This record gives sequence, C-alpha cells and structure tokens, in this order.
Amino acid sequence: MPEKEGLPLEREVEQVAEVEAYFQDWRRYRKAVENNYLYHREVYARLHDFFLNHLAHPFSLLDLGCGDAGFMVQSLQGTAICRYLGVDLARMALDLAARNLAGLGCEHQLREEDYYEVVCAGAIKADVIWMGLTFHHLPRPQKAKFLQAARGILPAGGYLLMYEPILLEDEDRDQFLERSGQIRQDTWGAMTAAELERIGDHINNHDFPEKISTLEQMAREQGFSGLTAMFLDPDQVYALMCFQA
Ligand SMILES: C[S@@+](CC[C@H](N)C(=O)[O-])C[C@H]1O[C@@H](n2cnc3c(N)ncnc32)[C@H](O)[C@@H]1O
Repeated sequence: MPEKEGLPLEREVEQVAEVEAYFQDWRRYRKAVENNYLYHREVYARLHDFFLNHLAHPFSLLDLGCGDAGFMVQSLQGTAICRYLGVDLARMALDLAARNLAGLGCEHQLREEDYYEVVCAGAIKADVIWMGLTFHHLPRPQKAKFLQAARGILPAGGYLLMYEPILLEDEDRDQFLERSGQIRQDTWGAMTAAELERIGDHINNHDFPEKISTLEQMAREQGFSGLTAMFLDPDQVYALMCFQA
C-alpha cells in the first residue's frame, strides 16, 4: 500500500486482526471513556432520550462494535427494548459486556464476530442498528456495501444511529488526524505519553472518518431518507447521527 508521510492511504477492507489486537487491551480505551474524552456521557444520554421519544413499542437492537456495552445498558434502562444483539471482535470487551448486560432484563446475545460479515450475511433483522465509534474503521468501499446491507436489515421507518469521528466540511483526513491529535495532546491529561502514542498509532492507521455531508449522501444512495445530527462536541470531532430507513 502506498504511504504518504508515514500515514496509510485508504484501503479496500478493514484490517480486522490489527483492530482486534488494539481493542484486546480494553483498559486503555476504558480510561479514555471514564475521563469522558470521547463524550460518551452526552452521546449516550441523547441516545436514551431517543429510545424513549421515538421507540414507544417493543424494539430489537443490533449493537455493532458493542465493546463492553456499559454505556449502552444505561441508555436502555426504562426503554421498550425487547431483544439485544451485540457484536464485537474483542473477547475482553465481550466478557465485560456479558456482565453489564446481565441486569438488562430482556433477551440478549453476544457474538464474537466481524460485524461487517454479520450484517452482509443478511440473516438478521432488527428495528434499530447502533454503531458507537466503529463505522469509521471501514474504508470507503466497505462503508457503501455496509449501508446497503444495513438498510436490508431494518424495516421501513427503522433507524441506523451512529456516533462517529467526523471530518469538518473543508477538511481532509490528514488535516483531521493533525487536528484531533493536537486535541488529545492538549486535553487528554490523564493518559500517559505511551498511551497517547498507542492511541495515535491506532487512529492514524485504522480510522477513516467522513464529512457529515458525505455520510448523508452515501446513506441516501442506499435508500435511507436522510440524516439528522443529534449531537456535535465543542471541538467538532464527534457527531451523533440518525439515519431513517
Ligand atoms: C471505539 S470502540 C467502541 C465501543 C462502544 N461501542 C462504545 O461506544 O464505547 C470500537 C469497538 O468496535 C470493535 N470493532 C471494530 N471493528 C469491528 C468489526 N469489524 N467487527 C466487530 N467489532 C469491531 C472493536 O473491537 C471495539 O470494541
């Protein structure tokens, strides 16, 4: 693959084994989450409100790249959830998810698989698909195929919700990597230099964020009716978005 100043250019497929290896050490990611560096509190609070306001009837949820599902379980409290399926590559995260989901009070299942394969296999139906910081791992060609398959999983009127790092409308990937890297250096004070370096390596090699306008266009091309932006953090690195089928 050609390299530009050490940064990989877009690939055809996600480097699943490397992503899995990175998230097998769940504690590093968990430390960033506990410090709210990725705005989990705000995002999952809005998701909770969304479940209450838009899904009054029993609904099934497919959580792709579910991680430890800790914040998701909080978002689902008091909602009409009737069936939950979480998919992730990282065994350590899934073991934690099994414990977190024990108190959910509805049918739930976890699968240690590549979510792209699961969705493209087309054997699952769900009323809602959730992706928390995981769609951007897919390079562009996989994103389009994924959206097409995801549309096939949802009923008319169903929801695909995603919380994603995003490019500014006048920004390219290299500029995003520089901007977001500077924010981490300036504000992620609880992380060690070694942790910041490892996080930076992962993002530089495996994150392919898109502009909100690009995501909207890609989703429309696959039959979604449009995009609603539900949250943008003050630094404009992370967005919570909703696509309706
Ligand atoms: C940044 S974490 C997000 C975890 C959780 N959704 C959250 O909101 O905190 C990304 C998760 O996606 C998982 N992941 C990445 N690519 C995946 C794939 N192709 N299939 C399954 N899981 C994947 C990783 O193992 C990791 O647990």
